[in-house]
Amino acid sequence: MATVTLDRLTKQYPNGFVAVTDLNIDIADGEFLVLVGPSGCGKSTALRMVAGLEEISDGDLLIGDERMNDVEPKDRNIAMVFQSYALYPHLDVARNIGFPLKLAGVPKAEIEKRVTEAARLLELEPLLGNKPAQLSGGQRQRVAMGRAIVRDPAVFLMDEPLSNLDAKLRVQMRAEITALQHRLGATTIYVTHDQVEAMTMGDRVAVLKDGVLQQVDGPTDLYEHPDNLFVAGFIGAPSMNLRTARLTSSTDGWRLQLGSQVLELSERVLDARPALRAYDGADVVVGIRPEAFEDASVAGENGRPRLSAEVSLSEALGSDLLLHFPLDAPSVEAGDPDALEGIEDRMVIARVHPRSTARPGSAIELSVDVDELHFFDSETEAAIRS
Ligand SMILES: Nc1ncnc2c1ncn2[C@@H]1O[C@H](COP(=O)(O)OP(=O)(O)O)[C@@H](O)[C@H]1O
Ligand SMILES: [Mg+2]
Repeated sequence: MATVTLDRLTKQYPNGFVAVTDLNIDIADGEFLVLVGPSGCGKSTALRMVAGLEEISDGDLLIGDERMNDVEPKDRNIAMVFQSYALYPHLDVARNIGFPLKLAGVPKAEIEKRVTEAARLLELEPLLGNKPAQLSGGQRQRVAMGRAIVRDPAVFLMDEPLSNLDAKLRVQMRAEITALQHRLGATTIYVTHDQVEAMTMGDRVAVLKDGVLQQVDGPTDLYEHPDNLFVAGFIGAPSMNLRTARLTSSTDGWRLQLGSQVLELSERVLDARPALRAYDGADVVVGIRPEAFEDASVAGENGRPRLSAEVSLSEALGSDLLLHFPLDAPSVEAGDPDALEGIEDRMVIARVHPRSTARPGSAIELSVDVDELHFFDSETEAAIRS
């Protein structure tokens, strides 16, 4: 097994376009690292540089202690699983899985042994004689995995391996791949544009935007402490509500002016984020996760400040109720590539207790857990903390 070090990895394509800039990630032995970001941000380019399928323009790639920049793909001791499984339609499952071993000239008996072992791990034994056309999408995906694991590589590379599967199967395969990776203990780099996949699968998650690394952290840290606006908006669904607000202090304490409404901020909020004190009188971007709201009529008196809202839309999810409401503070778009830039009437989304009776047209009060607010510098887009 092996560590993988991306040291200032840069890719400039022949047409001059720089797809990846100074990418630094140290991946531990046995770690499951997810590279996530919107389509076109350079994920596949980065992975293909590790695989050796794309020349590295600048920086170093190390597997273990060995510099790999100029090592042939087949000599890097890696296996890659693609989005298109690239199975051979005329070969049965056993031959598909054993194909890389045959290429490498491994003796027949040894191939059979290792194919059987991989098939057992992936529960493909009853299907070894089937052709790909006779398999379901999930089974094909597992055959592609099998072909990667028979070689017992030091590093697995996976590029959106689940994106051709339907939603339910994706959830199941997510769990299967994670379990398999833990069992094998192989260092893995997994690429996806799906932040839920990233959060549920990764030991750590690296967020990429326009070829530039934004943050790499454990899923919980990423969710609770996004370093900048992009990460804040990209991680989490429904996404963090981001609004421009004005921070002011007086002898009565600190206040956040959100459009025509005001949230009082306790000293505790400032103490937890000392850097905020420098923004007295300034506009900041405030981030409110949907779950930081609660319907005040359900929450009761909890001492938290409140916002008044008129509900436009409600979505009952069973476990939660999502309430959409307008707020007259300017919305800020970040992280969500599907968002309409500068949209005027973007709704705030609150995730409240399903016992809430709020429905479209209801005028309600929402309590806000101000300890859970996020603040960002409007210019640099960096989180304002210590
Ligand atoms: N051969 C190429 N020449 C020029 N630009 C490319 C080439 N391949 C990819 N790109 C560009 O590089 C960027 C990153 O592509 P890619 O790594 O495939 O993104 P992702 O996998 O995150 O969707 C995109 O803007 C893409 O158009
Ligand atoms: Mg890609």
